[in-house]
Amino acid sequence: MPSGVQTEIKTYQIHINGEWTDSKSNKTLPVYDPSTEEVIAHVPDCNAEDVNRAVAAAKAAFEDGPWATTTAQERGRVLFRLSEKIRANLASLAELECRNTGKPIVEAEFDINDAATCFEYYGGLATKVVGYVNPVPDNAMSLSLKEPVGVAGQIIPWNYPLLMAAWKLAPAIAAGCTCVLKPAEQTPLTALEFAKYFSDCGLPPGVVNIVTGFGETCGAPIVQHPDVNKIAFTGSAAVGKIIVKQAADTVKRVTLELGGKSPNIFFADADFEAAIDGALFGVFINQGEVCSAGSRILVQKSIYKNFVDAMSEKAKKIKLGPPLERETKMGPLVSKEQYDRVNEYLAVGKKEAKLASGGGRPEKIAKGYYVQPTIFYDVNNSARIAREEIFGPVAAVIPFDDEKDALKIANDSPYGLAAAVWTRDIFRAMRAVKALRAGIVWVNHMQPTYVEAPWGGYKQSGFGRELGPWGIEEYLETKQVFINLNEQPIGWY
Ligand code: NAI
Ligand code: MG
Repeated sequence: MPSGVQTEIKTYQIHINGEWTDSKSNKTLPVYDPSTEEVIAHVPDCNAEDVNRAVAAAKAAFEDGPWATTTAQERGRVLFRLSEKIRANLASLAELECRNTGKPIVEAEFDINDAATCFEYYGGLATKVVGYVNPVPDNAMSLSLKEPVGVAGQIIPWNYPLLMAAWKLAPAIAAGCTCVLKPAEQTPLTALEFAKYFSDCGLPPGVVNIVTGFGETCGAPIVQHPDVNKIAFTGSAAVGKIIVKQAADTVKRVTLELGGKSPNIFFADADFEAAIDGALFGVFINQGEVCSAGSRILVQKSIYKNFVDAMSEKAKKIKLGPPLERETKMGPLVSKEQYDRVNEYLAVGKKEAKLASGGGRPEKIAKGYYVQPTIFYDVNNSARIAREEIFGPVAAVIPFDDEKDALKIANDSPYGLAAAVWTRDIFRAMRAVKALRAGIVWVNHMQPTYVEAPWGGYKQSGFGRELGPWGIEEYLETKQVFINLNEQPIGWY
């Protein structure tokens, strides 16, 4: 085991109104290392009462606390300081993220660095929120002002724990909102460690409150709470649908990022070696537990056989192992539940298509929720493994004849988060960019994500956009102001 690894089992508290406290339920839930299947920590198992406390703190901070009068400059500085703190603690945060999610340490370091960059970006953007003067025809001045939406409820998944917290918290803080964040029950640790920086960084009590627990008992009360003005959610489509319905009762603003079944399309003229690497990286990064995973690999028939062979040969050489080892390319899946879910899909895939490589546990690893990088081929786009999000290292390779055929298959999905196209023909690339019904389209690459550029889906992949100026817009209301420039009011009387 690398030196410096924490071995004691910590019991965490939740963070409400700048203080650390236990759940009113007096219960905790265990947090695991999925590579050893052992408990590494306990966190509060929060209920509606805890959510009420957190929302009350967020509401008070928004309405009466110093936050209400904190300038955009100062909010920006708070964000810069949070970013610096993350960078200063990068090694320990990455190690914790790695242990708790099972993702390789090199990827965890990348994620934590990205989280710091996100706070930095929104630190800069805080002072660039501007309104408009509207050119109304009367002798009047019409303005549109931007104001924070209020208390934001933020419910996040387990695949990129601190990074998803950053995507939600940073724009909310920049906008002047206050937050109640619920990390995923599987991976709450880095968000709780992060909360330890708040007071040092000048974030007033109650601006960010963190509660831990399960979706039904801790997430749902946030969605239903009348004092929460907005919900930002990333997770499964099934839960996204529940959230939209539950948020309707109090007419909350909602943004959803619900994953997908993204096509990664390879034309025969693409650089072959780059294409193979792009297909593998696109679907197996983070063990395939990625909302934008290129899990449908569409390959032109003229290169299809060579492509499947080359891809599966290379997939067999991907190094699975302990996540903390630097040579590891794939660790275990995040939880027993996810491991079982993915294994069910492996059984489904074996019936629906042909197996080129993988298909089960790596033989040499006895413990942990490891799944081999698995490639199914001759997959029909109507098969379950081509339609349903698996969220594990499982690729469905689908042959196509020509461009028209490829784009038709690509768009034939209930989802529309991302897509990628590989070709050296610029005209074809641009035709595909236009035709693909997806929120993100990559050309000759798949997965790079930048805080400067918008992120979000079409169709059942959700609505709303995170990152960039789009991300802060979701935390802002627009107020229209009319100023009469006549001494006498205008009207019919
Ligand atoms: P999930 O959607 O159940 O969990 C995501 C978050 O929502 C967690 O914080 C969870 O506690 C919360 N949640 C669950 N039920 C809730 C409810 N009724 N009200 C409010 N909050 C609730 O995802 P799960 O079960 O961990 O994974 C299932 C599938 O979801 C995966 O196999 C994958 O296909 C998809 N998924 C997609 C993600 C994405 O990035 N779009 C991330 C994680 C999972
Ligand atoms: Mg669930």
